[in-house]
Amino acid sequence: MKEQLQKIKEQTMQQIEKSADLKSLDEIRVAILGKKGELTSLLKGMKDLTPEEKPVFGQMVNDARKAIEEELEAKKSAFEAKMLELRLKEEVIDVTLPAKKVKRGHRHPNTIAQEEVERIFIGMGYEVVEGPEIETDYYNFEALNIPANHPAKDEQDTFYITKDIVLRTQTSPVQARVMEQGKLPIRIISPGRVFRSDEVDATHSPSFHQIEGLVIDKNITMADLKGTLEVFAKELFGEDTRTKFRPHHFPFTEPSAEMDVSCFKCGGKGCRFCKNEGWIEILGCGMVHPHVLSMCGIDPEEYTGFAFGVGLERIALLKYEIDDMRLLYENDERFLAQF
Ligand code: DAH
Repeated sequence: MKEQLQKIKEQTMQQIEKSADLKSLDEIRVAILGKKGELTSLLKGMKDLTPEEKPVFGQMVNDARKAIEEELEAKKSAFEAKMLELRLKEEVIDVTLPAKKVKRGHRHPNTIAQEEVERIFIGMGYEVVEGPEIETDYYNFEALNIPANHPAKDEQDTFYITKDIVLRTQTSPVQARVMEQGKLPIRIISPGRVFRSDEVDATHSPSFHQIEGLVIDKNITMADLKGTLEVFAKELFGEDTRTKFRPHHFPFTEPSAEMDVSCFKCGGKGCRFCKNEGWIEILGCGMVHPHVLSMCGIDPEEYTGFAFGVGLERIALLKYEIDDMRLLYENDERFLAQF
């Protein structure tokens, strides 16, 4: 029996040595150490041994079992280590590959221009106020000195919701809304969307944006208007920018003017950009009409003020040298990504 045990042990060790995978190791374990395994049946044959031999042989079988178990375990660990190594090799990540870039959005050129104008006026102590895009005829026209049948209404034809409710044609109605509240002095700007029934072309759109400005206080003069807008122009287009005020007419200001800035491309010499004029028109302005003040409950003998209105798209087109307004609305990512 001892020889038999020795033989089983040797053979098993060899089989383990030669085994190629975890499955064959398991087969060996079952065949030798299992319930019906060779070593187990050898133990069953012990009943034929003498009482002295029994514990000795029993010990030998246990030793053999232990040796086989240890060998199986060692081989198993070796297999597992090898498999892990293989997997690591297969699943290796090449960290030198270019990363997938996350596309980050950014602000629209209109928004950039608006925030730039806001920044300049907030710096001068102005407050930003917004008004409704759907406006009453009263605020959009009447309160601004444009009564029914006034020819100025023709120039600003708009979308009528009812006879008395319109899509606002300008941000100027915010002036009346703020003045009516009666909190003086006033120093506000009001950016927002406006509408006109215009055909779409390179410089027109039925929907565009303006920024309104309004200052009301005691002793405000045309000098304050000019000084303020000059600072604004220099901040926006550069320190060397000069300004020029041309007389104009707006029903809600008296006197009224349009402000031109010296062309920031050629410095005023004349170029393609300014159509050889050296000057570029950028806004309308004036001293708030006394009748507008009194309609809003402000005494024109005590208070005066100035107002102005800038086209936001115009600023964006000039600043970024875009020659067609439609590009601002098409939202072509290839175009917008440039800003
Ligand atoms: N609302 C005028 C327009 O759309 C622009 C304007 C001119 C606004 C003069 C003003 C102003 O506040 O004083 O053409």
